[in-house]
Amino acid sequence: MSRFPKNFLWGGATSAAQLEGGRCEDGKGLSHLDYVYFRGPKQPCNFMLKKDYEKAKAEEATLNFPNRRGIDFYHRYKEDIALLAEMGFRSFRMSISWTRLFPTGLEEEPVKEGVEFYHNVFRELHKYDIEPLVTMIHYELPIIFVEKYDGWTAPEVIPHCFRYLKFIIDEYKDEVKYWLTFNEINMVTAVPWLGGGIILDRNDEFEIPKGFRPFGPLPEDMAKRWNDSSHQALHHQFIASAMIVKYAHEHAPNCLIGNMFNLHHLYPETPSPQDAYRAHEETEFNMFFCDVMAGGAYPEWIRTYYRRNGIEIKWYDGYEEILKEGKVDFISLSYYLSSVVTADPKRQERIGSFIRMLKNPHLPDSEFGWQIDPTALRISLNELRDRFHKPIYIVENGLGAFEQPDAEGKIHDDYRISYLRSHIEAIALAIEDGVDVMGYTPWGCIDLVSCSLVSMSKRYGFIYVDADDEGNGTYDRSRKDSFYWYKKVIATNGEDLG
Ligand code: BG6
Repeated sequence: MSRFPKNFLWGGATSAAQLEGGRCEDGKGLSHLDYVYFRGPKQPCNFMLKKDYEKAKAEEATLNFPNRRGIDFYHRYKEDIALLAEMGFRSFRMSISWTRLFPTGLEEEPVKEGVEFYHNVFRELHKYDIEPLVTMIHYELPIIFVEKYDGWTAPEVIPHCFRYLKFIIDEYKDEVKYWLTFNEINMVTAVPWLGGGIILDRNDEFEIPKGFRPFGPLPEDMAKRWNDSSHQALHHQFIASAMIVKYAHEHAPNCLIGNMFNLHHLYPETPSPQDAYRAHEETEFNMFFCDVMAGGAYPEWIRTYYRRNGIEIKWYDGYEEILKEGKVDFISLSYYLSSVVTADPKRQERIGSFIRMLKNPHLPDSEFGWQIDPTALRISLNELRDRFHKPIYIVENGLGAFEQPDAEGKIHDDYRISYLRSHIEAIALAIEDGVDVMGYTPWGCIDLVSCSLVSMSKRYGFIYVDADDEGNGTYDRSRKDSFYWYKKVIATNGEDLG
């Protein structure tokens, strides 16, 4: 008998910005990720300073913007969905693009062609009994809000966003049962541009230090702007999220809405109580995002953290009531890696942001230095169950790798099979431990544009897409070895892991 529940939602995950392409077609507008340009196959580029943004605009005609191309799902969705169906998918995570419906974000009415596009996609998915799992906002902010409002730091974004969110619930509630509000909502405090459309030095309040690295220690004035603006933005996203959860509960009672956060499991570097406390602190920080969205209130811990760190935010009018009324139905998460923390001040990483990773000698690394740790997923699933008592949907997990077809045009991605197998095994054990896991949708089930690198060459898919970082290639799709392996996993409900 399978260790997975009968209706377990096996599938895969994507996002509009990284997949669709068709950037300026049918009236679509541009969003903040359309201004991130490719800098090299291992060059992170989602930390946007003013000079980068100005360059992106000034050299728009010549720079390489892979997100604008995606993998052309906009035109090829039928072929792609047929391939997902061939693997036996029961769930497909995708996002709706705000700017395909509301090109500048300010319109009162959506663009007809955009609205129809998503109806067509949902129809196609249902043809094969695949449940759409829709992220309402997956790293997307119409560019006008970056220019005029300093991204999500401004409360003015909320009503415009809510108009979009309300529209999609009203329009698609009969076709989409499972929804997520903001993708990886905790990323706004780690990468303020990516999660919140915030250009940290937009108002020239501080000098960017020479040799500055986003994940290293920050000068005080920069840290102040970083913390205040990203937590302010987060507060507004919490409000928008709770407003739409409440609205959906009242107007679309068949829908289930989840939060979505990036799970970052942390180990103390040594058994010293100081290291252990530090790991505890980081874990509390990571959990606070779920505390607010699933528990409906800011925990005391984070209020103290704000006081201690001098973080000042303006509270939205009536926010306590709004959060209380907009609690999510399930928890969802992305999980890729674990990491190690130390209390040693000389090697201190910033708290409350993406951890500068200390290596764990017990774990192997991916090609991109992400440490592979299925056991941490099992531990965290148990912790999440104990803390929130809600079902959990694992909506991202996977292994990014450089890949080239061999002479016969095949990709033998046994490394990916081994990564996924070990994580599925960990999920099975967590289910045996008593965790209610609803489903599993590994990231980038079809190769798509990388988020941190805006490259095509970092690939996650079961399906290979013939396109390179410059946009050359046929964009033809082909099946990797993992395609056949995952098909068997789904067909046996997770019993045959190969
Ligand atoms: C998650 C994001 O953080 O990780 C995805 O939600 C992203 O959008 C995925 O693509 C993998 O990261 P990357 O940088 O390897 O594409």
